[in-house]
Amino acid sequence: MRKVILAIDEGTTNVKSLLMDKQGDVIGKGSSPLSISYPSAGHVEQDPLEMIERVKASIELALKSTAEKVDIEAVAISNQRESVLLWDRQTGKPLSNVISWQCRRSESLCESLREDEIFSQYVQSATGLTLDPMFPATKVSMVLSQISMGEERAGQGEICIGTINSWLIWNMTDQTFVTDVSNASRTQLFNIRDLVWEAGILKKLHIPAKALPTVVGSSCVVGVTREFGMLKSGIPIASQVGDSHAALFGHGGFNKGVVKATYGTGSSVMAAVPKLPAIRSEISTTIAWQDCDLFYGLEGNITHTGSGIDWVRRMLGVEDIEAMCELAAEADKDHSVFFVPALSGLGAPYWDLDATGIFSGLKSGTERADIARAAFEAVIFQVADVFNLIQEELPEPIEYLSVDGGPTHNDWLMQAQADLLGVTIRRGDVAEVSAMGAGFLAGLEIGWWGDKEALANLKRHEVLFEPKRAKHEYWQTRYLGWKAAVLKCRMPS
Ligand code: G3P
Repeated sequence: MRKVILAIDEGTTNVKSLLMDKQGDVIGKGSSPLSISYPSAGHVEQDPLEMIERVKASIELALKSTAEKVDIEAVAISNQRESVLLWDRQTGKPLSNVISWQCRRSESLCESLREDEIFSQYVQSATGLTLDPMFPATKVSMVLSQISMGEERAGQGEICIGTINSWLIWNMTDQTFVTDVSNASRTQLFNIRDLVWEAGILKKLHIPAKALPTVVGSSCVVGVTREFGMLKSGIPIASQVGDSHAALFGHGGFNKGVVKATYGTGSSVMAAVPKLPAIRSEISTTIAWQDCDLFYGLEGNITHTGSGIDWVRRMLGVEDIEAMCELAAEADKDHSVFFVPALSGLGAPYWDLDATGIFSGLKSGTERADIARAAFEAVIFQVADVFNLIQEELPEPIEYLSVDGGPTHNDWLMQAQADLLGVTIRRGDVAEVSAMGAGFLAGLEIGWWGDKEALANLKRHEVLFEPKRAKHEYWQTRYLGWKAAVLKCRMPS
């Protein structure tokens, strides 16, 4: 019987489960889609009970995807971050839907809190995060205030407030109520220096500490499973970690000089550092993970990358992404167009909600192909914006950018990214790198691998894109054009 770790990645749109062996090879996998609801403008929710069913379904699919008999030695969890829910500690029944990280319901609360500059700065310095509705703090405060006697009940320990990892672990065990430092650090309620729930923020937002989970390391056995769909009882749950952090770990981000970029609808660029870096407003400072060492993370979340390409595709009436790539390949490489996809403002590193999307440099000779190419170029320029800031904070030069996500299968895009940044791009062949990273953390905990060095030695299949010096100059010149376009899209109207 092959010994495996079951690594679950609970994401926003689907749940993936992997069966990973000691060589780090994936021998089975399953995926199950999740629904999202938009109850009113700016509100985004998910059904917590459906989520549990989807986790069970993905585990079942993974187990059925291999003919081999497997012995699951541990469960690992990676999860969408910042999404949060409340449930009844006695009955385990949800008291709210999952309030998604995408939900903007606390926009006006954040605005009024930001007016108090001292509080704003205190929040940023304690948590590493700028006040924003993406983070659970303000949303939890609102939802709790809408529950009858919510604050009182929470103060008496009758209500649990937890991110998705906590909800899954509660349901997979006999109601163990825990979270890990990486997920805690994304709530905007956690002090990333002292590793405690931050009393001053809790007080201001009327959130009783008694409602929050115990915080543990990311690599830590927190309990054993009860019977959960096809999963047997008695299996240790040995890791829990936010998905972006898990991906960085899966890419070997514990080694110096490694940065990862996940390309999707938006993009996340992240690096891990052993000491708390300077807190700056353009990128967030967070806790990457804690195994035997605690690593901090620097992360920039770009709002529109894949979604920017898709928006242009629809505007041009191009059928699909393949046709869009073909069209962009016909462009004049010295075209003058720049596209800034500030379709709902700009995220990292600008954080400008008032910016609006623009095309600049349009001329009578501009072709559809140039516009298509500008959409792809916007992706690499935005990644460069964050990458360059991260580089400023790292003591050593970045050697590699490890990439994952759908758009990374576009070889032209990856080569252009390498040429622009002047570093090697590494693209692995495991698409589910977040699940894999969580699996590695669990494997370290149960003694599969002695240390992170052993992980670094696991055989990996990677495609490398080496930067070309001649092209670097070409891209650097274009990058200046991009910067100018960003300035234009941020000009007051
Ligand atoms: O910060 C939100 C992020 O963790 C969501 O990830 O993969 O579900 O889009 P994903």
